[in-house]
Amino acid sequence: MATQPKQLTFDSGWTFPESVRAYPQLRFMGSKYRLLPWIYEVLAPLDFDTALDAFSGSGCVAYLLKAMGKQVVANDLLQFCSVVATATIANPGITLDRRDVEFLLAYDPTQKRFIESTFADVFFTREDLRFLDRVWANVPKLHSPHKRALAIAGMIRSCAKRQPRGVFTVAGDPTRYKDGRRDLRLGLRDHFVEQVEVYNCAVFDNGRANSAICGDVFALDPRGYDLVYLDPPYVPRADDNCYVKRYHFLEGLSCYWKNMDIMQETRVKKIPKHFTPFSYRRTAVAAFENLFAMFSASTIVLSYSSNGFPDLDCLVSQLRAHKRRVTVHKRPHRYHFGTHRAAVRNNVTEYLIVGA
Ligand SMILES: C[S@@+](CC[C@H](N)C(=O)[O-])C[C@H]1O[C@@H](n2cnc3c(N)ncnc32)[C@H](O)[C@@H]1O
Repeated sequence: MATQPKQLTFDSGWTFPESVRAYPQLRFMGSKYRLLPWIYEVLAPLDFDTALDAFSGSGCVAYLLKAMGKQVVANDLLQFCSVVATATIANPGITLDRRDVEFLLAYDPTQKRFIESTFADVFFTREDLRFLDRVWANVPKLHSPHKRALAIAGMIRSCAKRQPRGVFTVAGDPTRYKDGRRDLRLGLRDHFVEQVEVYNCAVFDNGRANSAICGDVFALDPRGYDLVYLDPPYVPRADDNCYVKRYHFLEGLSCYWKNMDIMQETRVKKIPKHFTPFSYRRTAVAAFENLFAMFSASTIVLSYSSNGFPDLDCLVSQLRAHKRRVTVHKRPHRYHFGTHRAAVRNNVTEYLIVGA
């Protein structure tokens, strides 16, 4: 008999929605997946009905908000994040059935060989790459945007699982990662069939008109959100925080590299990164100032970390200029994500700064 997950009820009386644990997490830099119960504990007592997750990334916080019954908009600068949010947040309960999957797996003699010819000997096997070309030949023929998004999300998570450390910074098939792990052994076709099912199981309707947007936060219309959750990239003390460098293959895959300039001279066939002011010391302080001013009519909840720049004091005083009550919640956290040669384990204090 399957064991029921233990209910997590906080001292405040709020109970964490266990269904959130079914969210198909991606190995995404800065993902808050493991912090969701704590984020819930902070959000649950707040009075709000509509919410914006302005930097949705892997989509797990927007998914939590959806599970809380809120009307949610998930936004991110990256297209693959937006596709995943269309599949899981905006999706009002549509799944891919057996016939859809058979349709997606069917050979189309007119299929292009773009992925195979571009990434042969860079990532995956030829068979894997041909498989992605095959699914992509069929995706546009699905009528429902949510089904299309589910199919692409299935490919994205399959590739993220099959790729060592889930990042696309190093070409080839380095032997040092061949430790027999199932995710690295399984071909993309088998991964895909599994991942479609994983996403199907995560789909639900909360009865609200949720949506997903792909764009710069500063291009959004800030009106209409009771609460805005902000989790921008942090200016790192070391290394860099470039999402495109790590996930360019997933970003290209999300739209079949349509209108993207591939940097052919690079070994891993990168695409140019987007500018974001949150990534640089010289622009980050002003970016936070603009962000808080922009969303000053909403309750602001900012996720932040002790290893970011600017520091906590600076952000709190910036937020106080717009909000009467500013509360800081803290907890220790350890981020795991691959950078160059080894996984970096960062012990930090994680903050949730609430401006009401
Ligand atoms: C720390 S991650 C968010 C993680 C997310 N909360 C999660 O749990 O997975 C930051 C995200 O901000 C996005 N981003 C960076 N600059 C942006 C901008 N100017 N507008 C919108 N999104 C941006 C990045 O693409 C990235 O997905």
